[in-house]
Amino acid sequence: SVVSVKVSIDQSAPGPVIEPTIYGHFAEHLGRSIYEGVWVGEDSDIPNTKGFRNDVLDALKALEVPVIRWPGGCFADEYHWRDGIGPREERPVRINTHWGWVQEDNSFGTHEFLDFVEMIGAEAYVAGNMGSGTPRDMAQWVEYMTSDRDTTLTRERKANGREEPWIVKYFGVGNESWGCGGHMDAEYSSDLHSRYATFVKVDPGKDIVKVASGGYDENFAFTETLTRDARPATTGAISLHYYTLPTANWEKKGSATGFPVEEWSSTLWRAMRMDEILKDHKAIMDRHDPEKRVALYVDEWGNWYDAEPGSTPGFLYQQNSLRDAITTALTLNIFHRHTDRVKMANIAQMVNVLQASILTDGPRMTLTPTYHALALYKPFKDATPYPVRFKAPTFRIGDHALPHVDVSAARGTDGKLWMALVNLHPNDPAEVRTDFSGSASGQILTAQEMDAHNTFDNPEAVKPAPYAGETRDGKIVFRLPAKSVAVVSID
Ligand code: AHR
Repeated sequence: SVVSVKVSIDQSAPGPVIEPTIYGHFAEHLGRSIYEGVWVGEDSDIPNTKGFRNDVLDALKALEVPVIRWPGGCFADEYHWRDGIGPREERPVRINTHWGWVQEDNSFGTHEFLDFVEMIGAEAYVAGNMGSGTPRDMAQWVEYMTSDRDTTLTRERKANGREEPWIVKYFGVGNESWGCGGHMDAEYSSDLHSRYATFVKVDPGKDIVKVASGGYDENFAFTETLTRDARPATTGAISLHYYTLPTANWEKKGSATGFPVEEWSSTLWRAMRMDEILKDHKAIMDRHDPEKRVALYVDEWGNWYDAEPGSTPGFLYQQNSLRDAITTALTLNIFHRHTDRVKMANIAQMVNVLQASILTDGPRMTLTPTYHALALYKPFKDATPYPVRFKAPTFRIGDHALPHVDVSAARGTDGKLWMALVNLHPNDPAEVRTDFSGSASGQILTAQEMDAHNTFDNPEAVKPAPYAGETRDGKIVFRLPAKSVAVVSID
């Protein structure tokens, strides 16, 4: 039998706009994310523009990536920006102690990152070092990147090939201070944040959003303390990290492919925990900051599986399947419901690491189901979300009960009504009945297998296909196959 769900969209109660930056990415110096994934160097046989691989540049441009967070992650708190400027052959070689103890030759540094985001038309979110750098290092990095005053540092930038300052719209003050960023408690970290952030300054008339390194999962101490201590001069946003593990066990997280159906449901269920987690963090922020001056940036989120067998330890390389596309859609739908406070989110990570949109293997590249899900959702950028009312029946697999369908709706900047529809069931189709007429068409992402994925030999196993609603009794009805996500506009 086909489950049937009635939906109605309340167009009388639009929410705050869906910031495009909710569709942001995170790219750390980790494994093959930057090196090989983005940067191959000018002398590489892999086709490149100024050292950036062309296939990845094109894919990111096509995705209209709004913002990229860099250089970490844990790496940010051991990164000293001076290592990554000047002639490449003279840059120091360090060890990336967080991720595999491999050599970091610093050939990708400030100029490379900021040129790269300019090339793909994204905004820069630079994460500074609060863990092992000084406030002066941080202040000088910001001056080097953003100032158009005539100073020794800006002369150095010009001598290194960049005349005009870059626009760095977002600046993170440390990362995961409760863990790899220094194992601090919330009080100490908040004081340190205030101190460092005070000296992050841009030229008069320019803006930079200072992001405090916040909490994770259901750990609220950082959100509480940082919001309590936030001052306009130090804190424009607070970060939150939440990763989805199929098993919730960091020792044995579960595989990216070939997983049992119980891990389909546990993964979707844990991804959907994002909603409660956001509600709880937001409730704390609302207490200290009822005017919602401080934003919440979910600047690391995504599925974290066991690394692919045979891949380099510490490189966090994992396959990406239809399951990842479904959790991407569910998470984006959740972000659409929290636009009052959630103004940015960065999926971890962009290329070759964790829930990647793009995988590379030497000269080859494949776009993952996650990439295609993000691409389907492009019309939601800058759109105005509407509350959607529906009562989805639940189904249970293993220990987890899930709603059969999930729906999000918004008015796009093109003036059209857009809907995102997700069928969470691994086997059963669903029917979504609306109370309005018209025609609905768009694209759908689905496959026969739960772990359907793209490989370098078969890069189009999972890709979007045309999709349309039907009209029944004058109203639009959607027939959603099992395990699918569809995005449609209503005409
Ligand atoms: O994304 C991988 C790591 O996860 C990041 O470096 C860190 O911030 C988080 O713990």
